Amino acid sequence: MTTVKTAKPLSSVDRIRQEIADLEPWFHNLHLPDGTQTAPHHSLGDFPAYKWKEMAAFLPPDLNGWTALDIGCNAGYYSFELARRGARVVAMDVNGHYLAQAQWAARRLGLEDTIEFRQMQVYDFADSGEQYDLVLFLGVFYHLRYPLLGLDIAARMVRRLMLFQTLTMPGLEVREDTDNLDIAERDRMLDPGWPKMAFIEHSLAHDPTNWWAPNHAGVEALLRSAGFRLLAHPGHEVYLCEPDPDNPSCVTTWNSVEYLAATGQNRP
Ligand SMILES: C[S@@+](CC[C@H](N)C(=O)[O-])C[C@H]1O[C@@H](n2cnc3c(N)ncnc32)[C@H](O)[C@@H]1O
Repeated sequence: MTTVKTAKPLSSVDRIRQEIADLEPWFHNLHLPDGTQTAPHHSLGDFPAYKWKEMAAFLPPDLNGWTALDIGCNAGYYSFELARRGARVVAMDVNGHYLAQAQWAARRLGLEDTIEFRQMQVYDFADSGEQYDLVLFLGVFYHLRYPLLGLDIAARMVRRLMLFQTLTMPGLEVREDTDNLDIAERDRMLDPGWPKMAFIEHSLAHDPTNWWAPNHAGVEALLRSAGFRLLAHPGHEVYLCEPDPDNPSCVTTWNSVEYLAATGQNRP
C-alpha cells in the first residue's frame, strides 16, 4: 500500500511570509496588519519608517480633499501614509518589480481603492498638464541622468507642497553672494558653501544609477531655481517647499523654449 503524504496547509501568516519572499528584494520595510514585515533586516534599519517620522509632522495631518503624487514610490511606504491621511494618491515608479510590491501591499493594507499605480518615467509627465496638491520627490533626483529636467517636470505639477529628498555631499554651509560672479573669481566656487553637484561617473555604493550628489547649498539653489520657496528641513537631506509666485522658474518664463525642446514639445 502506498502512503500519500499531504502537505500541511499554510497558515495565513506563513502564506503572507511566502508571498513576501516571492516578491524579494524589498527596499521598503512595510509593516503589515498581521505583524509581518517585508524587510525586517534592512541595512538602513526600519526604513523608511524612521525617515517618515522626521517628515510626518511637517505635512497636514488631514489630507482629505488633497491629491498627491509619489514619484518613484518604490514599494509604496509613503503613498500608504498619505492615503491613510485621506489623500487620493498617484504612485508611480519606473520599476515594475517595485510596483508589483506596492500593489500587493496596498491590497494587504486595504488601500488599493485610494491609490492609482502607474509604471512610467518621471519624464513622461512633461506634457501631461497634471497637477497635485502634494508631490513627493524622495530619493529619485540623484538617480536621474537628467536631474534638473526631472526637477523642472516635477515642479510644474506642484499645486501646494513638495517634499524633496536627495543624496547629498557632506556639509551644510551656504554662501549667499553667488550672483554675477566675475569670470576671474571662479576660485570662489571652491568655497564649501558654493552650490555644487558632484558627478558620479562610476557606481556609488555599487549602484550605477547614483549619478549626482549636490551639496546642501546646491539643493537649496536648485529648488529655488525650479521656482520653489523653502519652508523647512524636516530631516537630513529632506526639504519641504512650495511654489514661489514671486520667483517663478525660468522654464515658465524666458527659458520656456529650452524646456519645450528638452521635453520634445516644440517639434512642428
Ligand atoms: C532610492 S529609491 C527611493 C524610493 C522612495 N521614494 C523612497 O524615498 O524611499 C528610488 C526609486 O526611484 C525609482 N526611479 C528611478 N528612476 C526613476 C525615473 N526615471 N522615474 C520614476 N522612478 C524612478 C526607482 O525605481 C526606485 O524605486
